[in-house]
Amino acid sequence: MARRAAQLSVICEPNSQRKNQTVKTSPMNIVPRATFARTAVLLITLASQLSSTPALSADVQTALNASAHTGAIFQPPSEADIPAGPFGDTIRMGRDIMLDTPRHAARYVGNTLSCANCHLDAGRMAGSAPLWAAYVNYPAFRAKNGKINTYQERLQGCFRFSMNGSAPPLGDPVLVALEAYSFWLATGLPVNKEVAGRGYSTLEKPALAPDFTRGQAIYTARCALCHGANGTGQSVGGDIVFPPLWGDQSYNWGAGMGSVNNAAQFIYANMPYGMSYSLTRQEAWDVAFFMNAHERPQDPRWQGSVEATRAKFHNSEFSLYGQTINGKILGNTGAPKRSQAKDQAQIAP
Ligand code: HEC
Ligand code: HEC
Repeated sequence: MARRAAQLSVICEPNSQRKNQTVKTSPMNIVPRATFARTAVLLITLASQLSSTPALSADVQTALNASAHTGAIFQPPSEADIPAGPFGDTIRMGRDIMLDTPRHAARYVGNTLSCANCHLDAGRMAGSAPLWAAYVNYPAFRAKNGKINTYQERLQGCFRFSMNGSAPPLGDPVLVALEAYSFWLATGLPVNKEVAGRGYSTLEKPALAPDFTRGQAIYTARCALCHGANGTGQSVGGDIVFPPLWGDQSYNWGAGMGSVNNAAQFIYANMPYGMSYSLTRQEAWDVAFFMNAHERPQDPRWQGSVEATRAKFHNSEFSLYGQTINGKILGNTGAPKRSQAKDQAQIAP
């Protein structure tokens, strides 16, 4: 086990340029034991097949500068600092929900993803929408629903779209635990101020418009090993080790990751896993386009037709929903399979 962990840390270690910016805890330190062991075995097998990270390009330097322009990156407290007592218990529950959402928030989850698949290192990692940077910026106005959202309301959206599930009611123990965990991670940060490391670093548009065929080639070379040739990820003994990128078990058409710009930014800074910033900016956009040019669960805000849903919610150059790719209209799969009627009563669209 010790040897495995040592080998694993080789490919999980952030590259030298990021060392000052990222938190020191490896994502693997806090993954539950069984999952960790299985992930380790798979990753080690894969490590030998992956090439090493090339030198940083000018693109990377630009991205790093952009993320750093507001100052030093905050370091959230470490696991060992979680206080004892009921507050600590609630924080730990929030962390557990992040790491294994289908298990700890089963009622509200409609796919096999966990929050931490996208918010790396259990929501600590700068540049992958860390929870500490988010927390201090709510309540906030969101164009997505045209109102001021509390932090719990923001979290409701994650369940509805990224988790393809339903929104826990405000005050539900699941939302309270996630809020407590985020609040605690943000210990020492000022409120309502832009925080370096929040969200994703901006990634300028590439020279060439993102392209399906180029993206497919990158996917095959750099992603399929872990996420599978058909994008459905890989599981071992029922545990997801590599999460799905499209298909029934992925995020739905309404999710933030469904926007090609968000996906390009996330992928550029975080994928292939353990090899941050190893793709060029062009490659990140191309592979993000390819990934989001596949079918996934219907947008729960479905308006009765793809055209109407696109017009109302996807009127963006970064959404492929309702676009024709390889002769097929994306999102043309009819009404959502899950009933969202209950949600509608609880949250804004
Ligand atoms: C070495 C294995 C590996 C490779 C190669 C890899 N990924 Fe990942 N990817 C992961 C793991 C593991 C996670 C979840 C991280 C976590 O939970 O800490 C992940 C998460 C993701 C996510 C967010 C979760 C989801 O399922 O939507 C996206 C998007 C993604 N990867 C895209 C890509 C793309 C695109 C490539 C190729 C450029 C790629 N990955 C290459 C292992 C890999
Ligand atoms: C498929 C990937 C994915 C999954 C799974 C996911 N998220 Fe996110 N999340 C994103 C993306 C992308 C954004 C930013 C884009 C946006 O604003 O829509 C985001 C934004 C957020 C934000 C706001 C960040 C900010 O700075 O304002 C919070 C908080 C959040 N997610 C929490 C969660 C929680 C909690 C879960 C699990 C219940 C979760 N997310 C699941 C991709 C994901």
